[in-house]
Amino acid sequence: MAVERTFSMIKPDATARNLTGKITAKLEEAGLRVVASKRVWMSRKQAEGFYAVHKDRPFFGELCDTMTSGPTIVQVLEGENAIARNREVMGATDPAKAAAGTIRKEFAKNIGENSVHGSDATDTAAQEIAYWFSGTEIVG
Ligand code: CMP
Repeated sequence: MAVERTFSMIKPDATARNLTGKITAKLEEAGLRVVASKRVWMSRKQAEGFYAVHKDRPFFGELCDTMTSGPTIVQVLEGENAIARNREVMGATDPAKAAAGTIRKEFAKNIGENSVHGSDATDTAAQEIAYWFSGTEIVG
């Protein structure tokens, strides 16, 4: 597997608890390099656009409320097998089901306030990176 890039987001529940450094350290310890990063307090429109794939799910409104409740850190991570590696270090979406040592097991409060988001596939990684970093030169 070649070096690839994925998109990562540290969510408002985590920035509110000053967990940005601890979460980023876990990503870096997993072999992922932070090649782009910025702090964003997203608008409702940005949240709805970013999570449009979930627009018909019953939790969509609550998801957009949560994501606009405070600042997030949006990041591009680079490394060998970065998409799968990031998903591994994040752990399951529901922290109650996440493996020991994962970010969500250690830090997430519940399924909605689950501290991090990460792309699930090559095409979504490209789309999500473009959504937040279009026009930004990313230096690997
Ligand atoms: P994330 O990886 O950011 O993608 C969609 C988010 O919806 C997910 O993490 C959860 O934080 C949130 N969410 C809230 N309720 C649910 C649910 N019942 N099932 C899946 N995701 C949920």
